[in-house]
Amino acid sequence: MPATVVVGLQWGDEGKGKTTDLLAASVSLVVRYQGGDNAGHTVVIGDEVFKLHLVPSGVLHPHITPVIGNGVVVNPKTLLTEMAMLAERGIDPSRIRVSRAAHVIMPYHVALDGAAEARLASDGLGTTRRGIGPTYADRSARLGIRMGDLLEPEALRQRLARILPERNAILVDAYGQPAFVLDDLVAEAASWGERLRPHIVDTTTLVQDALERGEHVLLEGAQGTLLDLDHGTYPYVTSSNPIAGGACTGGGIGPLQVDQVIGVMKAYSTRVGTGPFPTELDDVTGRHLLEKGHEFGTTTGRQRRCGWFDAAPLRMAVAINSVSSIMVNKLDILSGLPEIRLCTGYAVDGAPVRWPVPLTELERATPIYRTFPGWDADLTDVRRMVDLPAEAAAYVDALEELAGVPITLVSVGPERTQTIVRTGRVQPTGRRSTEHALDLRVAPAIG
Ligand code: GDP
Ligand code: IMO
Ligand code: MG
Repeated sequence: MPATVVVGLQWGDEGKGKTTDLLAASVSLVVRYQGGDNAGHTVVIGDEVFKLHLVPSGVLHPHITPVIGNGVVVNPKTLLTEMAMLAERGIDPSRIRVSRAAHVIMPYHVALDGAAEARLASDGLGTTRRGIGPTYADRSARLGIRMGDLLEPEALRQRLARILPERNAILVDAYGQPAFVLDDLVAEAASWGERLRPHIVDTTTLVQDALERGEHVLLEGAQGTLLDLDHGTYPYVTSSNPIAGGACTGGGIGPLQVDQVIGVMKAYSTRVGTGPFPTELDDVTGRHLLEKGHEFGTTTGRQRRCGWFDAAPLRMAVAINSVSSIMVNKLDILSGLPEIRLCTGYAVDGAPVRWPVPLTELERATPIYRTFPGWDADLTDVRRMVDLPAEAAAYVDALEELAGVPITLVSVGPERTQTIVRTGRVQPTGRRSTEHALDLRVAPAIG
């Protein structure tokens, strides 16, 4: 009964959407386990581009049941919009299931996130202003509204009557924002509940029943390890746990039900919002990555900060996620650079430091680079490792060596089929097999 986790190893936007779509070919359930509509996952099939914020990226396969797990915070408006978009484009949204334990992003959460960010201005975190932090805060304070609550308007009214006055006081008194009206909120929430009723279920049972039937479940993370609330660059992080452990709490699976963890990273680094980013490039190379890589946020449209691949946190990311193999995306974007750098560690005040590095040190850390020759050839039509320029293959080898686990998939374009299966990689720890069923079964799908 195998479950596979897809997890970002950097600051998000590594191409998890593409990876999930690819691996979903051979599973029956795809479960999003944390985050909310702060995520923006892109899937490209032929000429069609799908940008998904809440619905798992497996939805484009008709045989998949897409599941939004209990660890996700759900803005019902976004979910309904996304379902309507899918229906309009011929994708059946009736299969989507949402955990009744998933917390609801209420309009006051969005208002609080926006007001806090606006007041902090350049000192803010640069959140997506989707209400993520305030919703997870209310969840922890046991003051949240859950998807199941939307189905019982009278009980919801009583609960909101207790919660809302304090939220309104903060909005009005601390931020000078308008208050929310109880009756309006209850009516809006009840209308979401009515429309989403057929989708709201106990998803833990759904996942466990599928595993018991011997079906394969894929768990899709949002954001990335360096944005993890506990293991990321706190406080410049999101408010949930994108790491593979989050798949257990947020997806309803046990640790020993996971047999594969696929780490997703891209061939360079990006970051959206504020926070330390030692390998950031504010030069012609940075512009190359931004423009050629179309590094603009899927959710907010913000320009992403770009830089060289940062392997300083990579070993730790591999360890805390139990990564069994890696997919490297966007190798094609590096074509045309005269040389390529790879950060293998940092120095702080002249001395080498080991990840995790305290924030104040990270802010003044100097990257230690290894330099590789670049290549000019366009990679987007390459489908076999042997057809890659030797320089590109050497760069992938170097990434693999630094990660310490096999890189089994390499992506050279956004489209589903622009993927190289890297065969014959051996798992150095011998802990898990690398020639796993998923890799082999996606091979036909990507021709
Ligand atoms: P996610 O949040 O991790 O799912 O990543 P995003 O979808 O936000 O950003 C990744 C972007 O890169 C998307 O626009 C993808 O279509 C695109 N992409 C993914 N893999 C590749 C690749 O190998 N090459 C290129 N050129 N684009 C890619
Ligand atoms: P995907 O799933 C990149 C960043 C925001 C901000 C910080 C906190 O597409 O990889 P939040 O709104 O979560 O409270 O913002 O986290 N952030 C992301 N950056 N990709 C994402 O998602 C992100 N989701 C949140 O920019 O710095
Ligand atoms: Mg994204």
